[in-house]
Amino acid sequence: MGKKFYFNAFEMNCPVHQSPGLWAHPKDRAWQYKDLEYWTDLAKILEEGYFFAIFIADVLGYYDVYKKDWRVAVENGIQIPVNDPLQIAAPVAQATKHIGIGVTSSTTFEHPYTFARRIATADHYTKGRIGWNVVTSHFDSAARNNGKTKLPEHNLRYEIADEYLEVIYKLLEGSWEDDAVVRDREKRIFADPDKVHEIGHKGKYFEVPGIGLTEPSPQRTPFLFQAGTSEAGRNFAAKHAEAVFASSFEKQELKEYVSDIRKRAADNGRDPKKVLVFVLITIVVDETDEKAYSKLEEYQKYISVEGGLTLLSGWTGFDFSRTDSPEDIKIDSDTSIASTKHFADRGGTTEDIAKWVGIGGAGPTFVGSAKKVADELQEWVEETDVDGFNISYVVAHETFKDIVKYLVPELQRRGVYPTSYNEGTLREKLFGYSKLPDTHPAARYRDIEKVKKEKKLS
Ligand SMILES: Cc1cc2nc3c(=O)[nH]c(=O)nc-3n(C[C@H](O)[C@H](O)[C@H](O)COP(=O)(O)O)c2cc1C
Repeated sequence: MGKKFYFNAFEMNCPVHQSPGLWAHPKDRAWQYKDLEYWTDLAKILEEGYFFAIFIADVLGYYDVYKKDWRVAVENGIQIPVNDPLQIAAPVAQATKHIGIGVTSSTTFEHPYTFARRIATADHYTKGRIGWNVVTSHFDSAARNNGKTKLPEHNLRYEIADEYLEVIYKLLEGSWEDDAVVRDREKRIFADPDKVHEIGHKGKYFEVPGIGLTEPSPQRTPFLFQAGTSEAGRNFAAKHAEAVFASSFEKQELKEYVSDIRKRAADNGRDPKKVLVFVLITIVVDETDEKAYSKLEEYQKYISVEGGLTLLSGWTGFDFSRTDSPEDIKIDSDTSIASTKHFADRGGTTEDIAKWVGIGGAGPTFVGSAKKVADELQEWVEETDVDGFNISYVVAHETFKDIVKYLVPELQRRGVYPTSYNEGTLREKLFGYSKLPDTHPAARYRDIEKVKKEKKLS
């Protein structure tokens, strides 16, 4: 039997996430993103297939690199309009029992004090099923509209993110002791002030002197996702993340990434097996190979090339309207989140690349019968040591329904995929414990008085 692995659904609270143009497919439901039923239906489908989590990407800006204009993005619904991901969490939790809900939030715009309350509230209402995808943002449009003239430079964003997490840990791990809330009716004491601590944070970027606003939630700090690719990003992921999202088209490259992240985690004194890596893919599966390929062909008719070029331009920071040849692409390393190498290496014209990105975005697509796709997934797991797949959809919710109907039973028969959920919080389901372990940097802030004393002495 091979190594067991997990599935994660890669979603976004908007009509077009990774498959530009497919919103026009008659079966597509993504345009219903603003109805709660869209999300609760999806979560129920995924839970039947034992998906580990539904994970919702987010941006606080828009795609205006292509043709230096946001109009193309708006016309094609490319990640705009985009709703707040966190508001989906509680209704999804109420409609399901186990599936995790991962939400993306950036450390570059919202203050950590208000965010700590928002994420802790969600952890309460989901009974500990919340994950947070920590991103630092890459759109100048997000900066311009959020009180900054320009994004802080790439490595500085990670430096700010590191202090942001320190504030979050202090608030969520250190401010309120486990037994601070006593609810003593006779003595008329709701919470014991001696067990609630001011965090006294005075750093380079944030100042938070007082106490946290929330009582401890089931996980305290939410389950932490991240997707660092650069040197600074990898170091950040290895220090903080419990699951990392990777984007890779080649097994060799992914293998190196997985082993690099595990090594860096071990260098941080963490258990490298407690940093899971999920790679971005798309799956088109049906009863037979022929049916799956004809389904793919039918999907491809709906791809929007302009939409694909809009995504590519936003991801690379390079305006794809300026060239027909991938060789001319020059990425802006400060605002890019994708390597042009992946696109340029494919050859063809930029239009060919856009069409190829049109199905599922910047990851490989596996097409065929359950047997064929299962063989390929197992090969990827065995050869790269990756822990799971972050699956983007082509047609909502058909893609996930097909996976649950055809592929999941085949993987379960092979003994490489979950057949049940463990009880408890998201972290507990995966790792068997609800709170971050002592080897995680957050643990240090549990004794906040000691941290304050040490700071005074230094
Ligand atoms: C699967 C995946 C999902 C991501 N989701 C988001 C997102 O929702 N919002 C965002 O601003 N960035 C997102 N990113 C970008 C990453 O946060 C990160 O900026 C990128 O991987 C480049 O790494 P670097 O910042 O270390 O250079 C995602 C990346 C990957 C691979």
